[in-house]
Amino acid sequence: MSTANIIKLADLPKAQPFVLSDVERHEIEHELTHYPDSRAASIGALKIVQQHRGWVPDEAIPLIAEMIGMSAAELDGVATFYSLIYRRPVGRHVIKVCDSISCFLTGYDAVRQGLEQKLGIQYGQTTADGRFTLLPICCLGACDRGATLMIDDDLHGNVTPQGLDRILEAYK
Ligand code: FES
Repeated sequence: MSTANIIKLADLPKAQPFVLSDVERHEIEHELTHYPDSRAASIGALKIVQQHRGWVPDEAIPLIAEMIGMSAAELDGVATFYSLIYRRPVGRHVIKVCDSISCFLTGYDAVRQGLEQKLGIQYGQTTADGRFTLLPICCLGACDRGATLMIDDDLHGNVTPQGLDRILEAYK
């Protein structure tokens, strides 16, 4: 083999270490000013990173934890428990379908099945075009308007399978 074909490890591009952006750091520092106990800023700090990246990568956890004075394991526990923090990349729009008792009694199953059929995905999956991610969520606090779902920050109540097309078309 000619030496021209040999690639030395040292010549390969080095992976860049993960860093929080200046804007993310600035916004987390500002969030910290709202709480006497910095640990109370944990969800806010996670949301800031998610706002900028669409989700919270594993590599961000120790960096955020250091800023708010928690261990990475503690913050990882918070991030995993809180269902609105996404730990994997998601689509441009996230659909969260309420599966708690009131919505369960007012058409949840039909709405979930309708979404799965229209989008061709199940819970935890993202459409091939990256448009939607589908997730379950517990009570959205609008139990008198079941079945409910949330797309991004928009709450939709009295949802029926027949009304799904009209709801979805607003999210490109
Ligand atoms: S049970 Fe669905 S909004 Fe409360």
